[in-house]
Amino acid sequence: MPAITPMPPLADGVGLPWDIAVDDAVAELAHARDAYGDTFVVDSGGDRYLFTFSAQGVESFYALPEAQASKGVADFLMLRRKLPDEIFLGRRILPGGLFRRGDVATYLSNLDHALVETVTELGDAGTVDVFALTRRLGHRMGLASWAGPGNDTGDNFERLVLAFDTLDGSDAFVHPDAMAAVAASGKKAERAALADVGEVIGAALELHNGTESNDPDDSLFGRIAAAWADEPDDVRRTGVAGDVALIHIASMSNLAAALGWALVDLVGHPHERDLVAAGDRTLADRCALESTRLAQRSIMARSVLEPVEFADGTTTYRVDPGSTIATLLPLTNTSAGPGLTTWDPLRWDRHRLADTSGLASAQLVTSFGHGKHSCPAQPFSLAAMSKALIHLLSTYHVVAQWTSYPIPVPAQIGGVARAAGPCPLAYRRA
Ligand code: HEM
Repeated sequence: MPAITPMPPLADGVGLPWDIAVDDAVAELAHARDAYGDTFVVDSGGDRYLFTFSAQGVESFYALPEAQASKGVADFLMLRRKLPDEIFLGRRILPGGLFRRGDVATYLSNLDHALVETVTELGDAGTVDVFALTRRLGHRMGLASWAGPGNDTGDNFERLVLAFDTLDGSDAFVHPDAMAAVAASGKKAERAALADVGEVIGAALELHNGTESNDPDDSLFGRIAAAWADEPDDVRRTGVAGDVALIHIASMSNLAAALGWALVDLVGHPHERDLVAAGDRTLADRCALESTRLAQRSIMARSVLEPVEFADGTTTYRVDPGSTIATLLPLTNTSAGPGLTTWDPLRWDRHRLADTSGLASAQLVTSFGHGKHSCPAQPFSLAAMSKALIHLLSTYHVVAQWTSYPIPVPAQIGGVARAAGPCPLAYRRA
């Protein structure tokens, strides 16, 4: 194991859910923190993790330089448990390139169309699973935004939804316990799904080829197609499909789930629900931030590439390459100060906490991260969530059919929580 000097306490017998069966991945680490303090080491599956939860430890975590302790590498190591390596190789337009000037307006206008389509599908009354609804909406908006012409409706849409539900990178942290089986299968189902994505996107590229000589296409799909324009046809098709796939997979990791929790929470808070239904965008933003905070299950991880000094406020450690430095949002988001266990959208002022006086550090609480790796999609995601909440709640009267507040998938250790069971919502046109 890579050295950490001095060595913090080693959490004996504790493992991560990719490596050993655990009942509740977050509770396991919470118990370790109770037993060993705010900084401790977990050795699991041949890897060494330095977990940190103190105020300065978390601040030091967010300040780690990418060259020494990499988020990109940590994400790759996590996602490759589920996704075939070829999805990551040779990418030209990455998910971080999604938010150029003008892009968000396009995505939000696609969301408008997707919402109209959603209401058509829902009809006047019925019952729908909250998270199935938001997931399908996320697919439709995303595929309209970056998957090329004709892929957000009809057979192409259904085919891509099926493929992406198999090729869902977030399974790596939502169902970590299933990753051994994915490895044992040689990622056969995922490779077949990627081939399917390639066929559908390849056909869209041909449609696009017919139009590109007339007008330079500045849409995201146009930029992706242009990035591969110098390649022979077969390389271009695979390259474009790979870029679209990785972007769509990145978009699937949090947004639809966060929107689902915002709906669940608003359904349970009629006063705020009515104000949002009446179009209060500022409140809708705050509700989206608050539900996301409470639903956070994210492990935040950095892979150490060069020796790095890491201070947790009590001790400065030298951490050798090969370790992962990590913190876990659910262990700080609801316990770092008084009152954090309750849903209170008014704690947010714009995108920040209105009052941080009860916190040892403002960085102990977050929905979208801190520092230079914080989410580049935050403004877009909040705008999209608010728009969807206002549209759905103003179109329908909704009544929760769950009898107790939904609980997250227990093994999940990353991203925004997925509900462990069905969350049926009855609706009737207002
Ligand atoms: C409610 C929805 C979302 C939430 C709660 C969320 C949350 C986060 C968080 C907490 C981080 C920081 C992770 C870290 O520091 O380790 C992050 C980073 C990131 N997110 Fe999001 N995210 C959301 C939506 C999206 C969407 C829709 C996309 C893209 C389509 C996206 C793309 C990214 C990227 C590319 C990064 C990495 C930034 C970097 O490394 O510098 N996110 N997100």
